[in-house]
Amino acid sequence: MDMTLDHLREKLLSWKGCELHKSAKPVLGEGNPAAEVMFIGEAPGQKEDELGRPFVGPAGQLLDELLHSIGLQRKDVYISNVVKYRPPGNRDPTPEEKEQCMPWLKMEIAIVRPRVICPLGRHALGHFFPTLSMTTVHGKPMTLTDAVTIFPIYHPAAALHNPSLRTALAEDFRRLRQFLDGTLAAVAIAKPLAP
Ligand code: URA
Repeated sequence: MDMTLDHLREKLLSWKGCELHKSAKPVLGEGNPAAEVMFIGEAPGQKEDELGRPFVGPAGQLLDELLHSIGLQRKDVYISNVVKYRPPGNRDPTPEEKEQCMPWLKMEIAIVRPRVICPLGRHALGHFFPTLSMTTVHGKPMTLTDAVTIFPIYHPAAALHNPSLRTALAEDFRRLRQFLDGTLAAVAIAKPLAP
């Protein structure tokens, strides 16, 4: 039987492989199971933990606006996170928590098979390109494999805390539109990690 996103969601409910399960609700990604574009954030926040859905708080509202600005809606894309539970007090997830939760993200990627993966912020970027910084690569499509391009974008929450990033974030989305339309080419980067 092929694994589906519904199977994953069901299995995640009883998974105890990350200590965060003791203090938070599991939040799997959601969206189009055949999406061309997948967005990957860091970890659920308070609202996401309450509702059990990714990007439904303030950062999610900004993400929705940015998607609309380039003619996309949530139903067109798939949205997930590196870590599947809210870290207490919204602290950064630890390297151990990211590693423990990673199999879920890998299974989501294997099921959806997106052509473009947009890491939102440094935690998701670090999975694919551990040595690159968001400041230097945001808005730049980078070839991961023949089939997949990584398109790093600032995390929407960063722009909520630091309004000066807002323009850069909007520009990242405009460039994503150009890439999807075939008017912006990806560059090859040495030594990425496989998805
Ligand atoms: N920030 C994230 O990284 N993910 C969410 O789902 C919400 C806020």
